[in-house]
Amino acid sequence: EQATGYYTLNRSELAALLPQRKAEAHKGTQGHLLVVGGSPGMTGAPVLAGLAALRSGAGLVTLGVRDGLTLPEKPMELIVKPWSQLQWDAYDAIVAGPGLSTQPDGQAILATILGLAGPCRLLDADALNLLAPIPRWWEQVKGSLVLTPHPGEMARLCGLTTGEVQANRLGLVKEKSREWGVTLVLKGAATLVGSGEEPIYINTTGNPALATGGTGDVLAGMIGGLLAQGLAPAQAAAVGVYLHGQAGDLAAREIGPAGILAGDLLPRIPRVMEWGQ
Ligand code: APR
Ligand code: MG
Repeated sequence: EQATGYYTLNRSELAALLPQRKAEAHKGTQGHLLVVGGSPGMTGAPVLAGLAALRSGAGLVTLGVRDGLTLPEKPMELIVKPWSQLQWDAYDAIVAGPGLSTQPDGQAILATILGLAGPCRLLDADALNLLAPIPRWWEQVKGSLVLTPHPGEMARLCGLTTGEVQANRLGLVKEKSREWGVTLVLKGAATLVGSGEEPIYINTTGNPALATGGTGDVLAGMIGGLLAQGLAPAQAAAVGVYLHGQAGDLAAREIGPAGILAGDLLPRIPRVMEWGQ
């Protein structure tokens, strides 16, 4: 559905955008995502993102963590590697930020990630908070980037207050996605996705049950999983936001309108993806 400058998605339009899984698919054909994050006390965030990517169909997910950090929540399906042993350009896509913290050792890692020309990179949470103070950071970036700020993170990126961001959501997404040369996902009720010249996507799914810690990590992992499977950044972002909201709507219906956990979204992701088939 395409109005002037804006568009929404419905289920049948979504179907055309979902990654296709061929009969001959194997884990090597479904994309390998690297999730960079985690810090003491924030070990669940990269695990949520990694699981969300697997639930979105990614073939393999590696969590890249600070040397010495252990992830007690890590399930068997996720691989873990310390930063010092990572081959940064060996992945189909990278998600950076969930639980990362803004400890200074993250700055060099962020610079490494920004300098990779190959895989599309999604920056969320503390990766955005590390990015914001770098003067004219967008001039150093190679290749394609997706940013997924909530209004507070967007405010830091723009040098505005959260109130000023919320008062001009559409205008800022349009302006900043073009200025920064990125796909920009401004989260919150009616999440917006902009990517420079293309029309702005306005999301119609989701509900206030999603206002709980960790749902943003799930969104980052879902978009990352779609990027790893080869979707273009603007499409991966719009499809991920749509499906994430639908998983939240399904969870609210099945569990209740408040009190869902971010982890409750995970088993519902394959179901909402199937609706689009
Ligand atoms: N309606 C629809 N969607 C909503 C609503 C709502 N009322 N409230 C929240 N959501 C969705 C947002 O659109 C977004 O996709 O839930 C998600 C919340 O994401 P975040 O704000 O990033 O929350 P969280 O997962 O807790 O972030 C984890 O990253 O942003 C930092 O400071 C944050 O350290 C924390 C971490
Ligand atoms: Mg967040």
